[in-house]
Amino acid sequence: MNNTNDIFLTINIGSSITSAVISKPKYDLDNSIDILGFGSQESVGVNKGLITNIEDVSRTIKDAILQAKESVTESIGTTVVSISGNYTRGTRSTGYVTIPNGLVSETDINQAMQMALSNSTILPDYDVVHVIPLFFKVDDQEVENPFNMNGSKLEASVYIVTAKRNALINIKSALKIFGIDDVRFVLDSYAASLAVLDDQQKRIGAVVINLGATTTEFVYHKGNSIIYNGFIPVGSKNITNDLSLMLNTPLRTAEKIKIEYGSLIKDYFGNGEVGPSNVGVSQINDEEYFKEFPLGHIQTIIHARVEELLVLVKNELKKNALLDNIGSGIVLTGGMSELGGIKELTKNIFEKIPVTVSSPKNLQNSFRVSFDEPNMATTVGLIMFALGMNRGYQLDSSKKLIRPIRKGQSPEKFTIPTSSHSSQVGVDMRIRTNDTILEPLPKDKKKKGFGILKRLQEWF
Ligand SMILES: Nc1ncnc2c1ncn2[C@@H]1O[C@H](COP(=O)(O)OP(=O)(O)OP(=O)(O)O)[C@@H](O)[C@H]1O
Ligand SMILES: [Mg+2]
Repeated sequence: MNNTNDIFLTINIGSSITSAVISKPKYDLDNSIDILGFGSQESVGVNKGLITNIEDVSRTIKDAILQAKESVTESIGTTVVSISGNYTRGTRSTGYVTIPNGLVSETDINQAMQMALSNSTILPDYDVVHVIPLFFKVDDQEVENPFNMNGSKLEASVYIVTAKRNALINIKSALKIFGIDDVRFVLDSYAASLAVLDDQQKRIGAVVINLGATTTEFVYHKGNSIIYNGFIPVGSKNITNDLSLMLNTPLRTAEKIKIEYGSLIKDYFGNGEVGPSNVGVSQINDEEYFKEFPLGHIQTIIHARVEELLVLVKNELKKNALLDNIGSGIVLTGGMSELGGIKELTKNIFEKIPVTVSSPKNLQNSFRVSFDEPNMATTVGLIMFALGMNRGYQLDSSKKLIRPIRKGQSPEKFTIPTSSHSSQVGVDMRIRTNDTILEPLPKDKKKKGFGILKRLQEWF
């Protein structure tokens, strides 16, 4: 594995912002990350997580990448892109293999998961995004990590996320034009959960709800896996639209009012201060004229929309029997989680379940980007996924096994056993220990054609 392999480009295609980050792991004991480049553009052509205009999306992605590339001279290995839950389906499956030499190897883990994948029914127009182990069993005993365990049979029970093939092809084609052809996908809400959950929350289990601009995506995350992912096509822009309609005001004014006066706690600002009794709102057709509305009226409009949304999430979780045992509770993130009083309203709706609002930890960078904002959850989660942090063994969207590496050690230092068993399935078989961080994605070793190379040079 050469050095370019561990430089990742991650692209978050949100409905409001598209971001591109170029990063690499430092291989130190703190799992630090080097942010080499950052680009961010207002999204055009994305609504409810769906690409509605691929030309616009391609342009936005290109601008974000060019901006991120300004400070980077090294070439990029793998590109990891978010995919909205609006395109995806989740299903479960199991597969097992016999262990030829009595000691579970990564080859066996790979084969058990591949078997689980081939045992599942995937709709013809869908492709794999993740195959994540729910648990492994070695000789019928459930284990967290089967690697190097003694046994004669390994079983993998997995959660499989698939996405509409056309959506994946559209994004891949858009990137291919710019010479990027090694692309993996990550479910938006899964990325958000990787970024905001701590070890304890993951161990006990938590539902992460990513409240975005036009989407609300949620996952039940437990251990290194997700048990369920859901999607509601409603987000903070719906509040803006409601305010625009009910207050007869332009969208940009409605957005400002939402941010400035939006609170789910009656008569208060989001920051806990008492708000004014009336708010002057400029009117469509006559922006000079400010009509007075009681703050309570504005807040009722916001409250109604958010309450409806949270009840939809609750009903879906309830329908799937996921509410009875949400260990560490509900974790809210995403831009809309900044709305004052969201924690309190969510607590009321979900009754006795604990609720927290979370942001990712900040990532040091020289671009003055605050990664520790709630709207950065997916962006940070994509970086963590790409760099191999916070996740366990799984098959990625190229159906290859991605796996842990040793903490503080660069991949070049791993030894590669040459046993015939390990070479059988053609996967890279590095030794690892239990104090693991996770290995960066393997790079496709496909040769780039001259055309692509040329385009790459032109573009960067
Ligand atoms: N204080 C606030 N109250 C309500 N909404 C807010 C607040 N601050 C930001 N937002 C909203 O958060 C949204 C942006 O959040 P985020 O970046 O998570 O969305 P996105 O990822 O672009 O969209 P999506 O996930 O739906 O594709 C915007 O619609 C913005 O209005
Ligand atoms: Mg988002």
